[in-house]
Amino acid sequence: MDEPRRIPAEHRADALVWRDVDEPEPADAGPVVRLLDELRRPLPLEGDQLSTLAGWSFRRFRPGVDDDALLAVNNRAFDWHPDQGGWDAAQLIERMRTEWFRAEDVLVHDGDHGLDGFCWTRLHPATDDEPALGEIFVIATDPARHRRGLGRALAVAGLDHQTRRGATVGSLFVEQDNAPAQRLYASMGFTLHRRRAGHLGPTGDARR
Ligand SMILES: CC(C)(COP(=O)(O)OP(=O)(O)OC[C@H]1O[C@@H](n2cnc3c(N)ncnc32)[C@H](O)[C@@H]1OP(=O)(O)O)[C@@H](O)C(=O)NCCC(=O)NCCS
Repeated sequence: MDEPRRIPAEHRADALVWRDVDEPEPADAGPVVRLLDELRRPLPLEGDQLSTLAGWSFRRFRPGVDDDALLAVNNRAFDWHPDQGGWDAAQLIERMRTEWFRAEDVLVHDGDHGLDGFCWTRLHPATDDEPALGEIFVIATDPARHRRGLGRALAVAGLDHQTRRGATVGSLFVEQDNAPAQRLYASMGFTLHRRRAGHLGPTGDARR
């Protein structure tokens, strides 16, 4: 089975210089060490995708009650990722304080041993340039539960939830070499919208 590539701490997002791959490469840029894809697909999902929800049941996240359980799943699932892994309670609270956060946009699944997966979504209202986007902001399932259909059902439920809120396009960001997630999204009809390249700084060193 494929695993995501482990990203070193010095390649965290804020240590790199990012550009769209369609833009010219800056003359003094260091090597590209990360590629980040924005994928999109039209909403609503087709009936055959929605049918994968049969037998699954999700509930909304309860701030202050589910924090530790969500963090445990997040940190186990993203132990290879310097930006998304290693979150502490303060980081989660900080993200929940953003003006767009709504607990009902975070769907969680309770397994036999507690919370074992979640899909945190976000609505970007339509603008003059963009349609209403239903973004999968973070999705993770417990590695002990991987490949049992939970991730797909959570992704479908999250996108369906945002469709009901008015999203006409689903979107998400994923590392180009996160093979499990890329396969899941391709099988759901997502395609590449744009690709960002993360360069080491001009000296070749990651920025501190
Ligand atoms: C991506 C993730 C949520 C999928 O969760 P999951 O519970 O394993 O998902 P499912 O069992 O529903 O699998 C859905 C599809 O994903 C793909 N997939 C999942 N794990 C895979 C693996 N190890 N290798 C290859 N493909 C894989 C397959 O296409 C699979 O469909 P299939 O089983 O019908 O072939 C999970 O791997 C995860 O938490 N990864 C770490 C966090 C992460 O990368 N999140 C996404 C960031 S954008």
